[in-house]
Amino acid sequence: MKKLLDLISEEMKNAFAAAGYDRELGKVTESNRPDLCEYQCNGAMAGAKQYKKAPIMIANEVATKLTDSMVFEKVAAVAPGFLNLTLKKEFLGNYVKDMRADKKYGLEETKAPAAIIIDYGGPNIAKPLHIGHLRSAIIGESVKRILRYLGHHVIGDVHLGDWGLQMGLVMNELKIRKPELVYFDETYTGAYPEEPPFTLMELEELYPFASKRSKEDDAYKADAMSCTFKLQSGVRGYRALWDHIIAVSVTDLKKNYERLNVEFDLWNGESAVQDMIPGMVETMKKEGYAYLSEGALVVDVKEETDTKEIPPCMILKSDGAALYNTTDLATIMMRMEQNKPDRIIYMTDKRQELYFEQVFRCAKKTKLVNSETELKFIGFGTMNGKDGKPFKTRDGGVMRLESLIQEIHDEMFKKITKNRNIEDAESRQTAEIVALAALKYGDLSNQASKDYIFDIDRFTSSEGDTGPYILYTIVRIKSILAKYMENNGNVQTVCSDIKPPVNDSEKELMMELAKFNASVESACEEYAPHKLCAYIYNLANAFNHFYHETKILTEEDAAKKEGWVALLALTRDILETSIDLLGFSAPERM
Ligand code: ARG
Repeated sequence: MKKLLDLISEEMKNAFAAAGYDRELGKVTESNRPDLCEYQCNGAMAGAKQYKKAPIMIANEVATKLTDSMVFEKVAAVAPGFLNLTLKKEFLGNYVKDMRADKKYGLEETKAPAAIIIDYGGPNIAKPLHIGHLRSAIIGESVKRILRYLGHHVIGDVHLGDWGLQMGLVMNELKIRKPELVYFDETYTGAYPEEPPFTLMELEELYPFASKRSKEDDAYKADAMSCTFKLQSGVRGYRALWDHIIAVSVTDLKKNYERLNVEFDLWNGESAVQDMIPGMVETMKKEGYAYLSEGALVVDVKEETDTKEIPPCMILKSDGAALYNTTDLATIMMRMEQNKPDRIIYMTDKRQELYFEQVFRCAKKTKLVNSETELKFIGFGTMNGKDGKPFKTRDGGVMRLESLIQEIHDEMFKKITKNRNIEDAESRQTAEIVALAALKYGDLSNQASKDYIFDIDRFTSSEGDTGPYILYTIVRIKSILAKYMENNGNVQTVCSDIKPPVNDSEKELMMELAKFNASVESACEEYAPHKLCAYIYNLANAFNHFYHETKILTEEDAAKKEGWVALLALTRDILETSIDLLGFSAPERM
C-alpha cells in the first residue's frame, strides 16, 4: 500500500496543479501544531516568491480546489499562508481497513531484495560473555529481523573469536594444572577421549586466572603464546583440546543467546578461514597491493580525499603472524565465495570504526569484493551506569551478561508479584518475558551510536517509554478481547469490520496505526530500531488515550462495538509484529 502521507501529498499536489501552480509545492507534513490541525502544507509560502503573489492568496486558491476532496474534511488557509489540514474520517477509516486486509499491514516489501550478511554478536570463546557483547546481539538481531521483514535475504553470522591468544592462555593453564592429560603428550597417536577434560565452570575460571597471571609473568605469557602457536600450526593434541573448548563454550553461548531471543544462522569463527589466509596473502603480494614496511606486510588504504590520517592495513606482523584484520579480510573472501552477499553489515562498538574503514578499503582495493558489494559498519555507543561510566558490577568488576539478565529478571519478578498472588511458576515465566522486553527496549529505544545509561528502575517501570509499558498495553488489549470472547463475541469474524472513527481519540489512534509502513521502512533504511520503538510508543499512547475515553465493551450499539473490537485487534497485531521485529514478545497476562 502507498504510505498515508504520500496519498495525502498526492491530493494536495493535484490541487496545486489544478490551481496553476507547481505541483511539487503540494508536499504535506505532519502538523507541528496538533492543536490546530492534523497535517499541514507550507507550499503557498514557498511558492510566493516564484509567483510574486501573497502566500495567502495562493493558499486560498488551492483550498477552493479541495472543497470536494475525498481526503480532506477541512482545508483552512490561514495567515500568512499556511494550509491546515484535517482528514476525512471515511478516508482514514478505509485506509486502516485496507491495512487489516494486507498481509503486512500496508508495508510493501522491497522491490530489490538483497543478499545480506550481518556479522554480529562477536563473542570470544573461553572468555565469558559480558555486556560489551550485549548491544551487538540486541541491535544486530533487530536489524536482521527488520531487513527480513522488508523482504531481504539475510544471514546472521556470530563470527566467534575462537583463534586468538585466549585459547593458548586457557590451554597453557590447563597444562600446568593437569600435565598428565593425554592432549599434552605429543608422542600420543591414539584417539582422544570424547568427554571434555573440564566442566564449563572450570573453563570459565581458567581464562580470567590465566589472563591475569600472563600480565604479571612474562615466562608464563611466553608459554601461552607457544601453546597458541601449537594450536595454530595444527598439533593434534592441541587441536583436540581446542575442539572440546569450542564445544563446551558454544553450548553455553547458545543457551545465553536463546535466553536473549537471539538466533544465528551461522556459527562460523575466526578459525574457519585460517586455511585461506596464506593464499590470500600470496595474491595480495603478487598483485602488488601488499608490501613490506618495517618487516610487516601492509596494504596502503589512504585516499586523496581523506581529511584524517588512515593508516595502512597490516596483513602480517613482522614475525609472520596473522592479525584480527587478516582474519576479517579472509572472512570476507569466504563469504563472497560461499554466500555472494550484496551487502555485509558489521555491528560492533563504535571504537572499531576506523578499524573497519581500513578493512573495507583494503577489501575493495585488493578486489576481495566487487565494486557493487556494500560493506557497512554500524557502531554503537557504550552502556553506562548511573555514574555515567561504563557499567560495572557493584564490586567494580565487568558485569557478566548472565548476571545482568538475572538482575533484571529478579527486579521484574519483584514488581510483578507485588500486591498480587499469581501462581509462582507463571509469574517467573512472565517476569522472564517482561525482563527481556525491559532490557531490549531500554537499549533499542536509544539511537545506536549514542551511549546510554543502564537504569534498572526506569527500564523495568510500567510507565513511560519502556518495554514493560508497551507490554502492559498489549496485555490490556488482549484482556479486553478475551472478555469480548467470554461474552460470546467472536474477534475473528469482526476483525475486518473497521469503520470510520467516531471520536477524536479513535481518529488519533487510527492515524498512528496508519504510520506502520512508513515507520518500519525508515527503521530499515537507516538501520534504526529506535525509530520503530518511537513508533510503538506513540501508538501505545494513542491506544491508551482511546481506551480511557471509550467504554468499549459496554457500548450498546453493536456495530460500533464491533468496529472498536476490530480496531483493538489490529492495534494488538501491529504492536506484536513490531516487538517481534525488535526481538521480544508479550505474555498473555501480566
Ligand atoms: N570478537 C570481537 C570482540 O570481542 C568482535 C568481532 C566483531 N566482528 C568482526 N568481524 N570483527 O571485540
